[in-house]
Amino acid sequence: MSQAVPMPDAAPFTISPLTPAIGAEISGVDLSKPMSASLLASLREALLEWKVIFFRDQDITTEEHLAFARQFGELEVHPFAPHKEGYPEVLAITHDKDRPGRENVWHSDVTWRTCPSLGSVLRAIEVPDVGGDTLFSDMYAAYEGLSDEVKEKVEGAVAIHDFAHFRALMKKMGKTPEEIEEMNKAYPMVEHPVIRTHPETGRKGIYVNAAFTQHIVGLERSESDALLAHLYAQAAIPEYQCRFRWQENSVAFWDNRACQHYAVSDYWPAVRRMERVTIIGDRPR
Ligand code: SIN
Repeated sequence: MSQAVPMPDAAPFTISPLTPAIGAEISGVDLSKPMSASLLASLREALLEWKVIFFRDQDITTEEHLAFARQFGELEVHPFAPHKEGYPEVLAITHDKDRPGRENVWHSDVTWRTCPSLGSVLRAIEVPDVGGDTLFSDMYAAYEGLSDEVKEKVEGAVAIHDFAHFRALMKKMGKTPEEIEEMNKAYPMVEHPVIRTHPETGRKGIYVNAAFTQHIVGLERSESDALLAHLYAQAAIPEYQCRFRWQENSVAFWDNRACQHYAVSDYWPAVRRMERVTIIGDRPR
């Protein structure tokens, strides 16, 4: 673990960066307790600076998980992924012998929505003894590391996003073509800028991802595929990343506007049970 650094203006917690670029563990905050406006502001500041913040030993209820996330914005109900019974806003991400992990693709959450996620708050309920870490990659650093030639190419470009892999999953689960067509109508493909400007920090970051982006508007398929492959590959550069090792009751809160994540699927047939609450964001610009 890297050394703790003091927060400016006496923030009421300790912050321990995982790497110079991205990820910091916060200690001294109890997520189950109501938070003052100044504590919330300090947490928001830490999120903006570190792109993903982590908390340990948060033995919180589902209601407390929801209440914590709600302080940062309205919560979404995911239309396709399974939710915890009785809690439509809580995604139940459960993997075991019969359901191997499948979040092992670099992505930002729900970019197939018109207004994708501001951030996600993920809590570990049950984790493998070893394995099942999550990687996070800094999309500002990824953008800044592009060559001038590529930066010029992507300036002003927009890309189409789609929930294609959920469609495949729905087919596998026996949904009829009519049911899938209803979903297509409810969630049509959407265009977002290839490089988005973060609404709070004003920084530019790569906003295409291997899970949901289909192609760049106005480019030949082969040119779009090559440019997207180059942009996707930036997430895999270790200097832009941090890696988080989960324990039961660890919580990660990431900014989907500034980073991408990848859940390492190396623990089969062990059980990994997580619960995610997703905060709705603005329309990317
Ligand atoms: C996700 O992709 O939101 C889940 C990440 C994880 O399970 O670590």
